[in-house]
Amino acid sequence: MKRPIVELAGTGRYVPERVLTNADFERMVDTSDQWIIERTGIRERHIASAEETIACMATSACRQVLEAAGVGVEEVDSLVVGTASPDRFLPSQACDIQKVLGANNAAAFDVGAACSGFLYGLNVAEGLIAAGTGKNVLVVGAERLSKITDYEDRTTCILFGDGAGATLVRPSSDGKRGILGNYQKTDGRLGDLLYRSSGGANEPPSEEMLKGRGYFIHMAGRETFKSAVRSMADACDQALSRAGLTGDQVDLLIPHQANMRIIEATAKHAGLPMDRVYVNIDRYGNTSAASIPIALDECVRSGRITAGSIVLMVAFGGGFTWASVVVRW
Ligand code: ACO
Repeated sequence: MKRPIVELAGTGRYVPERVLTNADFERMVDTSDQWIIERTGIRERHIASAEETIACMATSACRQVLEAAGVGVEEVDSLVVGTASPDRFLPSQACDIQKVLGANNAAAFDVGAACSGFLYGLNVAEGLIAAGTGKNVLVVGAERLSKITDYEDRTTCILFGDGAGATLVRPSSDGKRGILGNYQKTDGRLGDLLYRSSGGANEPPSEEMLKGRGYFIHMAGRETFKSAVRSMADACDQALSRAGLTGDQVDLLIPHQANMRIIEATAKHAGLPMDRVYVNIDRYGNTSAASIPIALDECVRSGRITAGSIVLMVAFGGGFTWASVVVRW
């Protein structure tokens, strides 16, 4: 088994108060509570207000992390942020979080890996620490997908929610706690199955672009679903094998919360009964890069994860990207 280089210390989350229920969607598009629950497992999702920017939500999550870890904001040397819905494109989202948080001694940058952004961020943090570049790396996953969701498209609008989560990565305190195995992979050939076509330098904002609704997330749901099931199974196998573990040694699986049926298929592949799988998709929907750190914080604060727990996290998202991290808490 790999001797961990880094451990995760402290967690935090922020979820906006406002809720959109399936009943709300029944009034907005041609859908039903029953269809949404049966096909996705989602009952409600949280939607940010005008003041709840990503910088504000992420800063709140980061402050909780620092308090839990007993680390001062001035000790943070890197701030790594996963998001697909930044407050603005330039500077990076990480720069705006750094400013609000006051982490003035940190190098701050984004990792673009859509829903896999938080786990890619953990892997980058491990690399920074292994290279001797960092000692206290804040890793954030934060999204305001409600701003890039087309509320006239019933195939996507029912899925997404807003929120933020974070953790601190630092050198393993005892050589036993921490990341035991990890994996990340991308297939850019499948990028056109889940994308936003406009707003970037290729297709700058224009009246035509807004009319064509290119600003919003587009997704080929069925194809994405099939790739997600396949890739999350692959990611589980890879991280476990690198850690020298098997599924039955995992205390808790925290999968990206995209669809209840994908979660169930991933659990089945890993040989885990559903009582060892964390599910909160019913309350939050798909919060992309924020989904795993929000779930992680809920598990830590509720005592579902305790010292020594073996936790397998696995994600899949636009790119396509997929990733996994297995950690001894
Ligand atoms: N209400 C009612 N009917 C609907 C709705 C809705 N909200 N949405 C679609 N339908 C209809 C479709 O129009 C279709 O009707 P038709 O048969 O008459 O054409 C029918 O339901 C079935 O549509 P499918 O797309 O096949 O439905 P599916 O069971 O695949 O569920 C879903 C769709 C929920 C989107 C699913 O495909 C999914 O979860 N995909 C993966 C999502 C994912 O993992 N994303 C990755 C991360 S996201 C990120 O990176 C930001």
